[in-house]
This record gives sequence, C-alpha cells and structure tokens, in this order.
Amino acid sequence: MRPLVVGNWKMNGLAEQLSEIEAMAISVKATLPSVDALICLPATLIAQAVLMATGRIAIGGEDCSAEICGAFTGDISAEMLMDAGAHAVIVGHSERRQQHAETDAVVAAKANAARRAGLLAIICIGETHSQRLAGTALSVCARQITGSVPEGMTASNTVIGYEPLWAIGSDEVPTHSQIMQMHAHIRACLTQRLGAEGQKVRILYGGSVKPSSADAILRLPQVGGVLVGGASLKAADFLAICRAAPLAPAHTPTRPKEQRR
Ligand code: 13P
Repeated sequence: MRPLVVGNWKMNGLAEQLSEIEAMAISVKATLPSVDALICLPATLIAQAVLMATGRIAIGGEDCSAEICGAFTGDISAEMLMDAGAHAVIVGHSERRQQHAETDAVVAAKANAARRAGLLAIICIGETHSQRLAGTALSVCARQITGSVPEGMTASNTVIGYEPLWAIGSDEVPTHSQIMQMHAHIRACLTQRLGAEGQKVRILYGGSVKPSSADAILRLPQVGGVLVGGASLKAADFLAICRAAPLAPAHTPTRPKEQRR
C-alpha cells in the first residue's frame, strides 16, 4: 500500500501562500514518486491550488455539507468541491465535532456525500485526553467507526484519520505502542464493518506529526500514512515528512481519484 501523506491547512492560507503548494508539487513529483500526497485547503484556495498543483499533488477540502444544493447559506457541498477540482475531503475532524457539535451521524452523512460526489472521504476519529486516561480510548474509537463510517464504503473512497485530540497541536505524540494498538484495533473495527474492504482502507495517524517524528511513525504496522496540520503549511516541512515515508512495494497502489483538471 502506498503511504498517503495528507496536509490539513485548517483556517490558514491566503493566495500568497499558494507558492508553497507549487513548491510541494514540483518536488513531490520529481523526488517522491512512491508517495501519495494530498493537501486539504480552505475552500477559497482550492481552484487556484488545483491549477498550481498541475496534477502532481492532490488537493482536497476540509469539510463539506451532507446536502447537494439548496438553502444552506455558507455551506459547501461535496459536488462543489469536486467542481473546484478537489478529489478528497476531510469529514469529522475533531475541530468540527467539537466546535460545530458534529455527531457521528452528521459525519456519516458527510462521508456519504463525499462518496456520492466521487470524492475520497477522510473520516477522522480520536479520543480526548480524559477518555484516554479513563481507559476508554479503544471503545470510543470503535463507536466512532460504527457511527461515522457508512456501510458499503470501500478502500478506494475511504481513508480513516486517527487523531487523538490531546495530540493535536500539542507537540505531544502517543507512544509507538499506543499508536500500534489503536491502529490494529481500528483495522479490526473496519474489517467488522466493511468486510474484506476494511482490510485495505488506509489508516492515517495525525497529531503533532513533524519531520523529526514522521519517519518512526510511518514505519509502524497498520500506519498507512499521516495527517499533518501545522507542519503542512511549509513546503520544506511537508516534503521532509513525505521523504520519511517508507518506499512502497511495487504493486498496483490504492490511489485516490486522479485530478480532473
Ligand atoms: P497538528 O499536526 O498541527 O497537530 O494538527 C493535526 C491535525 O489536526 C491534522 O488534521
């Protein structure tokens, strides 16, 4: 399975920062042919970023509505992201779950919308610090998978982002054994929910991934890539993380859909 390195710019980035996307695109193509790289951006930047990325790096959105169109002022549909040239969208990021009270059911509806539009859905799950301390991290994530991953999703339209909330933006990374335990658990939950497809869905680790920590994390079993916040804003850091990805074996990769333009 090819490693997938996903950047999430969150609410950062004006047009002038698009030069970072251009720099990433040039280097990814030239030096990292065995990594799938995707940057999820604020909707305002997507169309321009797609042009600058020239198909060398994939561009995605950070959220979408569950609806196709209509009286939903301020919302953006998965079809609109697709129309802008995106080929993926993050759904259920913990910042959306917490700040916008998104439930598992809402996240599942958004993942369904992504599938309907032909986008790769990056479905995020993860426990809080108090849940980790209470020993319920595994059951919390199992419940989130059951509630947020629609039945019938496949490895070609779904990626799971495991992001423990206490690791996001905190410079605190779980131990390798905590990551391994959780990823193995997520794999078992996905297999239960999706059958054989659940074996192939990529599971990304996210939370304070830096160039210095990426190498060891990317080599852990069941880690199919990383989801990177702060360190994805600068091309140099993002590329250093891509470089840390182990070389993929020479088999047909599971790849997100190609850029449409
Ligand atoms: P940081 O890499 O800044 O901790 O953010 C992680 C994240 O939330 C990516 O979606």
